[in-house]
Amino acid sequence: MALVTERPDDTTTTTSVVHTANPSPQWWRTAVIYQVYPRSFADGDGDGVGDLPGITARLGHLARLGIDALWLSPFYRSPQNDGGYDVADYRDIDPLFGTLADADALLAEAHRRGLRVLVDLVPNHTSSEHPWFVAALAAAPGSAERARYLFREGRGPDGAEPPNNWRSVFGGPGWTRVTEADGRPGQWYLHLFDVTQPDLDWTNPEVAAEFESVLRFWLDRGVDGFRVDVAHGLVKAEGLPDWHGTSVLLHSPLEGEVSVAGVDEPTTETAPERVQAGNHHGPMWDQEGVHEVYRAWHRVLAEYDGDRALVAEAWVEPMPRLARYLRADEMHQAFNFAFLTAAWSAPALREVITDALSAMDAVGAPTTWVLSNHDVVRHTSRLGLPQGEGMPGGIGAADPQPDEELGLRRARAAALLMLSLPGSAYVYQGEELGLPEHTTLDDAERQDPVWLRSGHTERGRDGCRVPLPWSSTQPALGFSPTGASWLSQPESFAGYALDNQQGVPGSTFETYRAALRLRREFALGSGSLAWVDGLPVGTAQTLAFVNREVLVLTNTGTTALPLPADLDVLVTSQQLPLAEDGAWLVPPDTTVWARIG
Ligand code: GLC
Repeated sequence: MALVTERPDDTTTTTSVVHTANPSPQWWRTAVIYQVYPRSFADGDGDGVGDLPGITARLGHLARLGIDALWLSPFYRSPQNDGGYDVADYRDIDPLFGTLADADALLAEAHRRGLRVLVDLVPNHTSSEHPWFVAALAAAPGSAERARYLFREGRGPDGAEPPNNWRSVFGGPGWTRVTEADGRPGQWYLHLFDVTQPDLDWTNPEVAAEFESVLRFWLDRGVDGFRVDVAHGLVKAEGLPDWHGTSVLLHSPLEGEVSVAGVDEPTTETAPERVQAGNHHGPMWDQEGVHEVYRAWHRVLAEYDGDRALVAEAWVEPMPRLARYLRADEMHQAFNFAFLTAAWSAPALREVITDALSAMDAVGAPTTWVLSNHDVVRHTSRLGLPQGEGMPGGIGAADPQPDEELGLRRARAAALLMLSLPGSAYVYQGEELGLPEHTTLDDAERQDPVWLRSGHTERGRDGCRVPLPWSSTQPALGFSPTGASWLSQPESFAGYALDNQQGVPGSTFETYRAALRLRREFALGSGSLAWVDGLPVGTAQTLAFVNREVLVLTNTGTTALPLPADLDVLVTSQQLPLAEDGAWLVPPDTTVWARIG
């Protein structure tokens, strides 16, 4: 729909509505959800690793910030080979993080403060220390114990070659051969991730029954829903056929490993900005059978009160394909990784936003917005790198370093853009402080299996997982009472500490707070989106849209642009300078929210 409006200053603006307001009441349609990575949020017991009592003690910070819900990355019993995404017991808390009583206390305190809680569910694989896998190794080929996982005979003479050519997302082969009871090399098992993360066989009804029981365990304890890890990977194509593409996690593949969307042959083409989702077209991703799993889970959640929700971590494209996970009887929302991976450019962002809204509207699901998480270089640092060159797979001291000031300016503008959009938004812990990636972390400290399995070619994800700075004057910047910290914090973190920002007008923290308050006040989450073209500010480097009574302008270009007169400015990501004629200017890399008429 296109409307032409005559403005008082005789400027002709064109408005194209791409999304209309959605009055549905479910909380998850509009929620701002804050991701807590428990290892690095707050350490209660002083061992240098964050824990559940540490989180509970800091819930006041989240309430003050003004978010609606938390998503906790895994806290289950785990050998921690992949930061807890290797679960050994889905019904217990790892002693590193506390106890089930601590989890209950966290839930109760969050709910008392009006915050909902999502927990992470990891159904694609277990830890190799899970009793099922221990039993599978002890049992014989063909046994019921092995049938919960993907054990296969090898190829070639003596079965010495893996059953197919699949690679691990973290690098290296996707299969590992086991030693049988007689001491001889035997079957192989599939692990799409680390060797200690064996993939489950989701065609086995016992696996499905177990996970439904796990869902109920946590729903009974009062969780408001689940973030579902690798939601597009559970079911593999029948026969596990060879695939000549490569999948890498959340960043652009190394040169020579690029597989472009829809083309499964490796090519040496330069990675386009959004190629990573295209890495997930192989026979291990996005198979039809996964939808049956989520339909069953939907039914389980529907038995409970309070609009419990399922959130898909699914690297699936194009958008309409991702939307299939959000059909009315499946999951409730999915991370919008196309938004996260878009370059800092108005046309690229406009395309992604329009595509996402139209694909999600087609199935009646909310669109989500996300800029950072525990798997990607923090957006503050990403946006301080040259744009359009794809996602970095971690940054080390020897790599080109991001422009920290530029990155922060863009990050703040990106955050105000994200928080003005209709739908649900995700905030990764520390982004409300403007934290950069730790880009000079000592390689000796790295714990991410990506660093190891890539043969030390990909620095991996430790740089975005560094413990948070709460206080500029305390040991470990207030993260831990003893000053211990499982990853060391860069010196610059002191400047970003919460105590340096709280109550300071214009600080990143206060800007997030103001945006979250206004988002609620103007009901932007359930609002609409109409692109505005033709404003005096309208150039190819500007995004301009209206959501309810709020005009949002983002300047991704290199020159300052005049703000239309007579607007009541609500919040800005930078202070606006005045032009000679008295008009406000929107500087480069800035977002402005203004109230219209
Ligand atoms: C998801 C998680 C990531 C983990 C992987 C394997 O992508 O977000 O942290 O390593 O799954 O579980």
